This record gives sequence, C-alpha cells and structure tokens, in this order.
Amino acid sequence: MKIAVISDIHANALAFDNVLNDIEKFNPDKIFCLGDIILAGYNPNYVCQKIFELKEKYNENFEIIQGNTDKMVANCTPELIAKTKEAFSCMGYSLEEDVKITDKKYIDFVKNLPEKKSIELNNLKIELVHGSPRNQSENIYPKLPQEEVEKMVDSSSADLILCGHTHLPCGYSLNNNKTVINAGSVGRSMTQDKMPVYLQLTIDKEGKFFVEHRIIKYDNELVSRHILARGFKHCEDLAKMYIA
Ligand SMILES: [Fe+2]
Repeated sequence: MKIAVISDIHANALAFDNVLNDIEKFNPDKIFCLGDIILAGYNPNYVCQKIFELKEKYNENFEIIQGNTDKMVANCTPELIAKTKEAFSCMGYSLEEDVKITDKKYIDFVKNLPEKKSIELNNLKIELVHGSPRNQSENIYPKLPQEEVEKMVDSSSADLILCGHTHLPCGYSLNNNKTVINAGSVGRSMTQDKMPVYLQLTIDKEGKFFVEHRIIKYDNELVSRHILARGFKHCEDLAKMYIA
C-alpha cells in the first residue's frame, strides 16, 4: 500500500502543482494531508480547490486534518490579527489579507476539520497530527533529544505518528517502539534550499513500513515574486523566506 503524505502547503500553488505531478508518478493508494493548507503564500483558493479535487478523486482514501494556520484563518478576529502582527509582523498582515481573499466555503471547510485522526492499516496504527499528539502547535524538528519526543507522543497509542508544522522533515525511532515522522512542508519549506518536501510511505501486508522524503525542485524565485506582488505591509519579509 502506497501513501503520499503532504503537509503545510500554505497557499503555494506552484509548489503544490509540482508536488502533485510527482505524486501522480508515485500513484499512491491514499493521500494524507496534515494541515496548514492556507495562510501566507499567494493563492489560497487554488490550493483549496486542488484539495477538493483530491478529496473527490480519492474519496475515503483521502484524509485531512486541521493545522494551526487553518485554525487562525477560520477563527480570525481583530485581536488575533493584532497579536500576530506584534509577534510576526508579515504573518499578521498576511492573515489580515488572507481572510479577505479566501472563499468562505474553503474557510468553512478548514474550520470543521479535526485536529487529529487515528487510522489502522495492515495492523499498523497510525496517528495524523499537525504539531504533536498533545498539541497542534508543538514543534517536532530535527535533532531533538529522544526523551523530549517521547514525552510529546506519550498520549498516542499509535505505532507511527505523522506530523508537520515545523516545515523541517525529520524522523525519530523511539525507545517506546513508536516512530515519528515529520513530512516537511510543500509550500513553505524551511530546509536549506527551500524546496518542497513530501513523504512517500509504503506499508507491506505485515504492517512493516518504509518511508522516503521526496524533495521537488521548482521555481521558488517566481513564488517569492508572487508574494511580493501581493503588496501588503512587510510582504517583502515574507517573500525573502522563499529564497535559499
Ligand atoms: Fe505551517
């Protein structure tokens, strides 16, 4: 059984199209999306439309959960915008604009997504989370002490925990027999080269699994120009984050 695991698309239409082309060649049985489909980026409606198309094509073989930025857009208030501007200026201005340009049907869609999902495939228990099993916004990134990751996933009874959120692909094989894999980010990759990353997961009949992080080359400079063209205050700071 082949599964494509995507996360943190963040309204980046070009990155998503390039990843979807690669996924098509992989020809998976299922697709899992770990949230943060919107906020930042430049085309939330296109990305959400593509998500709807995947949902239609894969039916019960498409799973999606909510990320923290989906929640921010869905539950946006003037106070949240002000607080975000204070903490991370360009993101706050992006939030203010994104709420205006994202179709209501897509905002309603992300608002109603679950924060996590448990799935069993070939006797392998899998949990889909955005940050960690205990917190949607908790950071699982490379080179954390194992004991710290063990605490983060302690509440989960799954064998395999799939997460995103930090935009940094990584994996942990823990002493409690759990495996944690961060799928990386499709649309706002924080790897050195800023290229989109997603996960190819293969599960055999006995529930043994194999993973490969796929890195997809694309025109990140064009995306940076698209972000700059949005013109909101401090968008140049956001645009810079797409360049290696
Ligand atoms: Fe994210």
